[in-house]
Amino acid sequence: MTRRAARVLMVEDTLSIARMTEAFLVQAGYQVDHVETGQGCLAALEQGLPDAVLLDVRLPDISGLEVLAHIRRQELPVVVIVATAYGSIGMAVEAMQAGADDFLVKPFNADRLKVTLANALERLALKSQVQALREDFGRATFHGFIGSSLAMQSVYRIIQAAGPTGATVFVTGESGTGKELAAEALHRQSRRANGPFVAINCGAIPHGLIESEVFGHVKGAFTGAVAARDGAARRADGGTLFLDEICEMEPALQTKLLRFLQTGTYMRVGGETLEKVDVRIVCATNRDPMKEVEEGRFREDLYYRLHVIPLHLPALRDREGDVLEIARALLARFSQQEGKSFQGFTPEAEDLLLRYPWPGNVRQLQNVVLNAVVLNDGPLVAAEMLPPPVNSRGSLPGQVNRATLPPLRLAEPAPSDIKPLWQVEKEAIEAAIDAFEGNIPRAAAALGISASTIYRKKAAWEAGEGESLGA
Ligand SMILES: Nc1ncnc2c1ncn2[C@@H]1O[C@H](COP(=O)(O)OP(=O)(O)OP(=O)(O)O)[C@@H](O)[C@H]1O
Ligand SMILES: [Mg+2]
Repeated sequence: MTRRAARVLMVEDTLSIARMTEAFLVQAGYQVDHVETGQGCLAALEQGLPDAVLLDVRLPDISGLEVLAHIRRQELPVVVIVATAYGSIGMAVEAMQAGADDFLVKPFNADRLKVTLANALERLALKSQVQALREDFGRATFHGFIGSSLAMQSVYRIIQAAGPTGATVFVTGESGTGKELAAEALHRQSRRANGPFVAINCGAIPHGLIESEVFGHVKGAFTGAVAARDGAARRADGGTLFLDEICEMEPALQTKLLRFLQTGTYMRVGGETLEKVDVRIVCATNRDPMKEVEEGRFREDLYYRLHVIPLHLPALRDREGDVLEIARALLARFSQQEGKSFQGFTPEAEDLLLRYPWPGNVRQLQNVVLNAVVLNDGPLVAAEMLPPPVNSRGSLPGQVNRATLPPLRLAEPAPSDIKPLWQVEKEAIEAAIDAFEGNIPRAAAALGISASTIYRKKAAWEAGEGESLGA
């Protein structure tokens, strides 16, 4: 492929210089247009953009610096090289400060002209390439997401493309991968961005109440329904309804949701008239929805209604490089919030963050960084400041299977995940003992309790008295 000859607009009022320069440029393979005045230059720019402007500073009408200022104000993607007379180097400096790409001192020879122009054009091409890459592929942040991994670039692109369509999006991903953040991003990226965003967590509401939470109820619909109440569907009218943990929805309500998706209408609990709303549905689950369908817990027809645009959020361990990007951003945020002076992590601490598998994903990383910031201070987060199980990986040659350690218990477990407190406590203590290679005093110090408390509890568990030691 032959490259198109670059176009140069030459602004020069001294005809002899113009002829000679034009000859140099044509010989070097450029296509040249010539104007003699500043106004002529502005008019030519209106007609079409050249690749470069070779601009004499001293012109008969307006100053070359004014022309330069105009080009930069308009953010025109052209290279500007100013030509100044020998002895007026101050003018060249001023032009560079005003945004010229380079300058030439007259009289200049053909070589100097060619090199200056070629380099400036090269830099412009690179700049626009980098810009395009950054816009298309290299996003480091997107609607609250941090991370420039390839895995996340495709998430950003799907959100950007699907957001404005209004199509239903089915978000999947492990716990803490950012499913709710994705739902919010879809809303903000949509034409409904100024409308409401209403989230309903189907896993956190007792089964008997979800229907009224979603569709509302009329007065007297059930005991305690002392007044009519709007449901999430009504409150989300004109906006986005986010149905989180959709797989926890009971079968009877799945049927009602399907009808709502098919017709856009629903009835309140206890109501007799159909109501209509205009909502965009985004739903999410951390289960495998196909498996839920196969095992008969989730209606297949509802699944296909919802599964218009699938959006899978990768696990944090599969996003190369993002762990550190997110950790650093969170460190800056939490340090500021907590009035600490952290600037970064030591190389050992970064190494631990990179090697840990993050079963609780970004939420767990948030907790780990917050924990380190709250309990410590200093310019750098050191490995010892990272709480277990993150900080003990690799230091135990093959003794303990780290994968079996419970992840840090994070916010909002599903009701079925909730364990008796004594058991949570037992797991936390055992994890800490493992993390410190059986050193009970150190495990106790890390847990903020006395070693004797651990010994007492261990004795009680061995005697089978777990429950009686609760809290
Ligand atoms: N890429 C990211 N960059 C920065 N923060 C993130 C990122 N992903 C998630 N977060 C933050 O991590 C936390 C957990 O995210 P979110 O609640 O969206 O996860 P989730 O997938 O819905 O989790 P769960 O399945 O447990 O409900 C939130 O505070 C969110 O703002
Ligand atoms: Mg969630």
